[in-house]
Amino acid sequence: MTDAYDVVVIGGGPGGYVAAIRAAQLGLKTACVEKRGSLGGTCLNIGCIPSKALLQSSEKYEEAKHALAVHGVKLEGVSLDLPAMMARKDKVVSENTRGVEFLFKKNKVEYVKGAARFVAANRLAITPIDGGTARELEAKSIIIATGSDVVALPGVEIDEKTIVSSTGALSLTAPSKRLLVIGAGVIGLELGSVWQRLGAELEVIEYLDRILPGLDGETAKQFQRLMQKRGTKFQLSSKVIKAQVTKGGVTVTVEPAAGGEATTMEADIVLVAIGRRPVTAGLGLAEVGVALDQRGRVEIDAHFATNVPGIYAIGDVVRGLMLAHKAEDEGIACAEIIAGKAGHVNYDVIPGVVYTTPEVSSVGKTEEELKQAGVPYNSGKFPFTANGRSKVNQTTDGFVKVLADAKTDRVLGVHIIGIEAGEMIHEAAVLMEFGGAAEDLARTCHAHPTRSEAIKEAALAVGKRAIHM
Ligand code: NAI
Repeated sequence: MTDAYDVVVIGGGPGGYVAAIRAAQLGLKTACVEKRGSLGGTCLNIGCIPSKALLQSSEKYEEAKHALAVHGVKLEGVSLDLPAMMARKDKVVSENTRGVEFLFKKNKVEYVKGAARFVAANRLAITPIDGGTARELEAKSIIIATGSDVVALPGVEIDEKTIVSSTGALSLTAPSKRLLVIGAGVIGLELGSVWQRLGAELEVIEYLDRILPGLDGETAKQFQRLMQKRGTKFQLSSKVIKAQVTKGGVTVTVEPAAGGEATTMEADIVLVAIGRRPVTAGLGLAEVGVALDQRGRVEIDAHFATNVPGIYAIGDVVRGLMLAHKAEDEGIACAEIIAGKAGHVNYDVIPGVVYTTPEVSSVGKTEEELKQAGVPYNSGKFPFTANGRSKVNQTTDGFVKVLADAKTDRVLGVHIIGIEAGEMIHEAAVLMEFGGAAEDLARTCHAHPTRSEAIKEAALAVGKRAIHM
């Protein structure tokens, strides 16, 4: 049996489900094929949503344990109920994934539960996940939104119990006592923070000589200092060559990145977080001639079109940042282009957030990128120690940094370390989307007393006229 559609999306993650909803909104007959058994992809099922649930819960625990007495709130006998914390996380996840199913029904997107494989450029064979009958879907346009998966490390076998990926780290059955994280990227630091707040000693081994590659250098350095202040240990310029499960936990063998004598370290849990790779296997891409780039990603042009007419790709499976919101925006733009509209993603203004304590957020260029491109710029920095609300709240760690073009004053990048930095970054993103200048930001009245005043002050500092510093 072959059913015909205008658009079929492969993958029900943030890129795929958003593309399907947008296509349906535009009047296209749309189906979305997903093999996981629930919608929302990595993000909703085993990524952003469950990790944020645990970040929130662990923050509450840490606060109740250590941070309330100063406010005159005395708590005694605070203890951890890990199964309850995990149950709340699972409930949050299922509410979110069912929410996407509801959105599909509302928008008349057909949800096809199965694995899709190309049998022709415009036809997919579906192997159902629930033992139903196999079927074929024919579509004028097919969007590949199959996302990404964990990168494995040779010599380190993930069992999701003692040596875990991000997936296992979201479901530990007991709090880790000594957690060793391989990779000082976003996943390692976020999930490391969760278990650190719940009592683990945290040590992070990173191949490069810095943490959070891609983040503004000064911001990353300052953030590393703050994490160290919280007790996190970092071993930079080091590579893990082996991890062996023992009776008591795991023995990890580490070598200097440049080569040299190996040492061993012990931990009860090891988290491997060295990056993610695009998922293209089993789709029949080679059979229909869809080209991949050198890094195994589906190659696309500026309009998300692959080299095969009618086949498009978006999200983690294509070039660019592996971020849910980047995938969502690509999904919208791709659906609009298929519908004959002018879909577009502004890759210069994609915010990034690391959900730790404090948070780190950024949008636009780093100082390193501006220097490398030879763009003269002015930098304005304002610390939260000089912000009234932050003093009141005793959340003075971190700063706001605004980078503006030296000739035009146009804001080119904003970097924030601090509590709620992930929420605060968006006024900078909107300003940058409209091509605004530091002067615009500085002249925008900000409510007092708020932490956002630090953004205005950093914008004033670009012109060397911050008031409260
Ligand atoms: P990542 O690419 O952010 O960081 C991986 C780190 O591992 C790098 O610093 C790399 O140098 C290091 N590394 C690689 N091989 C190593 C080795 N053998 N030994 C030691 N260190 C090694 O990757 P991560 O953290 O796994 O995240 C994957 C993707 O998911 C990223 O693109 C990230 O942006 C995204 N993500 C974003 C989140 C957010 O926006 N809040 C949350 C979680 C994931």
